[in-house]
Amino acid sequence: MSTHEATQAELLERARAVQLGNYAPAPVVFTRGEGRRLYDRAGRAYLDLSGGVAVNSVGHAHPVLAAAIAEQAARLMHVSNLFYNDRAIELASAIVDRSAFDRVYFCNSGAEANESLLKLARRFQYEQGQGERVEIISTHRSFHGRTLGALSVTGQDKYHVGMGPLLPGVVFVPYNDVDAMRAAIGPRTAAVLLEPVQAEGGIIPAAPGYLESVRALCDAEGALLLFDEVQTGYGRLGTFMGAQRSGVVPDACSLAKGIAGGFPLGAIAVTERLAGGLPPGSHASTFGGNALACAAGLAVLRIFDEEGVLANVNREGDYLGQRLGALAAELPAVTEARGDGLLRGLVLAEGVDPGATWRAALDAGVALTLAGGNVLRFTPSLNVTRAELDEGLDIVKSVLTKAAEVAA
Ligand SMILES: Cc1ncc(COP(=O)(O)O)c(C=O)c1O
Repeated sequence: MSTHEATQAELLERARAVQLGNYAPAPVVFTRGEGRRLYDRAGRAYLDLSGGVAVNSVGHAHPVLAAAIAEQAARLMHVSNLFYNDRAIELASAIVDRSAFDRVYFCNSGAEANESLLKLARRFQYEQGQGERVEIISTHRSFHGRTLGALSVTGQDKYHVGMGPLLPGVVFVPYNDVDAMRAAIGPRTAAVLLEPVQAEGGIIPAAPGYLESVRALCDAEGALLLFDEVQTGYGRLGTFMGAQRSGVVPDACSLAKGIAGGFPLGAIAVTERLAGGLPPGSHASTFGGNALACAAGLAVLRIFDEEGVLANVNREGDYLGQRLGALAAELPAVTEARGDGLLRGLVLAEGVDPGATWRAALDAGVALTLAGGNVLRFTPSLNVTRAELDEGLDIVKSVLTKAAEVAA
């Protein structure tokens, strides 16, 4: 065995040779993280305000989360779903206790959670003797995942290229348009699927009253209301579920991303009405509800409680919103700041190259992501500090100032 530890350049060359070309990552290989800091193979530190796209909810290498995973790994990782495990029961209970939902099903990712919602909606209607209700209404610019079902309800054509035929029975309407929803919903509708804030589509919050109106339409028409809370849920907007901001309770929602702080875990949470929606044998996931993943999910909730994380999201989310608003007012490179909690974005002006801006921020030491093509997205871990936000925003400001000079 070679004693030579590969350099960053060698690892990058190797990655390009052995990994499938479906990603186009920045040429940085991260090998370690701590809190909001990431360290690359060359030893350089970066401030992470991307939080792994809203996944690292309590920061990198949080000692409580790391210890919980290590302890659980040494005790029990997996039994099959032919048996119960204590951690899955505890985590389902904790989610039920903190939300308006009554039952939980675990899987491994956001796409898988949304697949589960789609199957639940159709099967529930079938079980009710409403087998003709097969249609799913989704929205333009939505994002629900990359598996074929989740992709079929994703309202962005660029992700559909070369992937057809997609799932039939999907109807798309503009987001935040109640009249279009009213026109689309009817006796063939199984469910309406919405994000409380469209995240990947460009950080577009629901307009005041929109979610309430869609809830009323679903109730009047006998359709289910499903929220995709993969990015908005588990504290990101300052409430346990993002929809709690509006007070609207959907019939079911999907969760993933930050739920286990970086460990793969997805879930759907449903109201009692849907408890029998997926009878035994109708749906399953080998790894779903894995004891190790659920132990990580429980540790995240413990950290939320012990460290006052949701209060931090409300306080620092407001602060981030104010500072981004000030940048939008001041800098020609930015036209608008939008978002909620710690899910926020800066809309870049025409002529400002989003990819180049993102790379310039990284080169200057701040890791961010893009959404909706032209939105610089901020999804830091939920325990981000004021000092970290200030440090990152000062760097982003100088990057955007230069970007405007280039564009001019
Ligand atoms: C709202 C939403 N739904 C679903 C997904 C898909 O999640 P995953 O990549 O875990 O399948 C994402 C991922 O970005 C998302 O933002």
